[in-house]
Amino acid sequence: MRTIALVTQKGGAGKTSISASLSVAASEAGEKVAALDLDPQGSLAAWGDGRTADFPAVDRVKPEQLPNLPAILQALAGQGFTLAVLDTTGMASTSGNLAMQAADLALIPARPSRLDLQATMPTIETLMRFGMRDRFAFVLNQCAAGRSARTTEAASGLGMFGVLAEPALTLRADHQDALASHKGVTEYAPDGKAADEIRQLWAWADRKMKANKA
Ligand SMILES: Nc1ncnc2c1ncn2[C@@H]1O[C@H](COP(=O)(O)OP(=O)(O)OP(=O)(O)O)[C@@H](O)[C@H]1O
Ligand SMILES: [Mg+2]
Repeated sequence: MRTIALVTQKGGAGKTSISASLSVAASEAGEKVAALDLDPQGSLAAWGDGRTADFPAVDRVKPEQLPNLPAILQALAGQGFTLAVLDTTGMASTSGNLAMQAADLALIPARPSRLDLQATMPTIETLMRFGMRDRFAFVLNQCAAGRSARTTEAASGLGMFGVLAEPALTLRADHQDALASHKGVTEYAPDGKAADEIRQLWAWADRKMKANKA
């Protein structure tokens, strides 16, 4: 089983939205996905509570269960899950740290603004400390539609610190509307641009993890 963790101390960057939609897109691509909510806020779990589909399976990992995260992931692998997606809390936290250490790929969502880019630095430092230089990537999220100097600038700024996942995700109402109706964007508006971007992001993450294993 492979594990992707969505991490950044910055609140509102898109950890939960990307966890949800990426879990759905990966499920549609044939993965057996467990989406785990490590954030006591419980947004991803609440999203999952309104779903009936078998995959992704959505569950909470309570703070007191966090030390058992490796065992929880091993049990999921034993049950036949092929991918775990971990949504974490937006603070320097045990959940974020444990999720990073368990991850084959840590995705750091960041909005293309100076404050957001600065706010990713502590997360990068932590990932480096854990020896994850090759196992993390930024995801630019909530970017203006079309070509934008801000997105290009943010991409080159982040590119100095690590790999940038492709594509950058655009700010689109589909993300908000999908989550509100307990769907991923690929379920909510399968032919929409948000769906297209999330499918491409899954393909990118899949390739990146395969390349790292090779
Ligand atoms: N690409 C996007 N387009 C439009 N809205 C988005 C996009 N990504 C996230 N949002 C919105 O931004 C807000 C914050 O997103 P989200 O809750 O996923 O961030 P988070 O990193 O999980 O936040 P927290 O740190 O509070 O857990 C939400 O209202 C969400 O709907
Ligand atoms: Mg969240």
